[in-house]
Amino acid sequence: MNHEEKYFKHKKAVVDQALDDYIPNAETRPQRLHQAMRYSVFAGGKRIRAMICLAAVEAVGGNERSALLPAMALEVFHTYTLIHDDLPAMDDDDLRRGQPTCHKAFGEANAILAGDALLTMAFEWVGACYAPPLYPPNQLSIELAKAGGSQGVIAGQVEDMASEGKESTLEQVEYIHGKKTAVLFRVACRMGGIAGGANHKELEALSKYGNGVGLAFQIADDILNETGTEEALGKAVGSDREKNKSTYVTLLGLDEAASRAQESIDQALAALKVLPGPIEPLKKIAHFCMSRSS
Ligand code: IPE
Ligand code: IPE
Ligand code: MG
Ligand code: MG
Repeated sequence: MNHEEKYFKHKKAVVDQALDDYIPNAETRPQRLHQAMRYSVFAGGKRIRAMICLAAVEAVGGNERSALLPAMALEVFHTYTLIHDDLPAMDDDDLRRGQPTCHKAFGEANAILAGDALLTMAFEWVGACYAPPLYPPNQLSIELAKAGGSQGVIAGQVEDMASEGKESTLEQVEYIHGKKTAVLFRVACRMGGIAGGANHKELEALSKYGNGVGLAFQIADDILNETGTEEALGKAVGSDREKNKSTYVTLLGLDEAASRAQESIDQALAALKVLPGPIEPLKKIAHFCMSRSS
């Protein structure tokens, strides 16, 4: 394992351990609910949003501990979106993170409730963090609420569902990708930056980076839906085409989709110049988002 792999393995282990400590254990009543929550959170998951948050705090010269709860909150929030996204009323998927989806394993009602509980837990955790004096003390909660709300992730999910079975324009696909995926990458950067006391210019740079990397991550997902394997991804492939969904790949082809993703990464990397702390981890994460196979 090279230095970089060790770094990310260590960060993932820190986040996973903290999640394990904070999420009620499977014996806690109601046991079925906590089993379902833990089943989905600990099924795997790259923890990329948490890593971005931790790398962002480092890039503004802050202390990692101040961003740990926000990083954990991002991961339980993200897991909630995946559980609900897989439900029969939405994408109706059977496989997630290499195992049966939450509703397949625990039933639909428990999956809805496990998602609700993870979403609520995310706000319990960010609500327990005070932003440094440059910001209002509740800024982290406000950031996550805006990113996850009706003009953020949920907006993306609504338009994504509405786009099934009809040809969308690139502008519409870009909107969906921006909202359903990039918004969470952006807020991961912003929460790390805020927790680390970033000034407004630094926060702006982090937002640009998060947006660019998030868009590239979702374009890579479009590409992997076409070229990847179920085994490596731990979820269904070929589903975009089956559902007749417009993506960067269906609208532009594989090569052009890849070059748009690269452009987005290049813009993200250019934004990092103004940051005072080590930016190497953010650079590595950006490259991973482009080159990933899982
Ligand atoms: C899956 O996200 C949903 C998308 C936005 C493409 P990830 O690929 O980060 O999923 P996990 O957390 O690693 O399972
Ligand atoms: C996942 O979106 C859910 C969110 C990003 C909110 P998708 O439906 O596009 O991703 P997969 O393919 O199920 O992971
Ligand atoms: Mg979906
Ligand atoms: Mg889906």
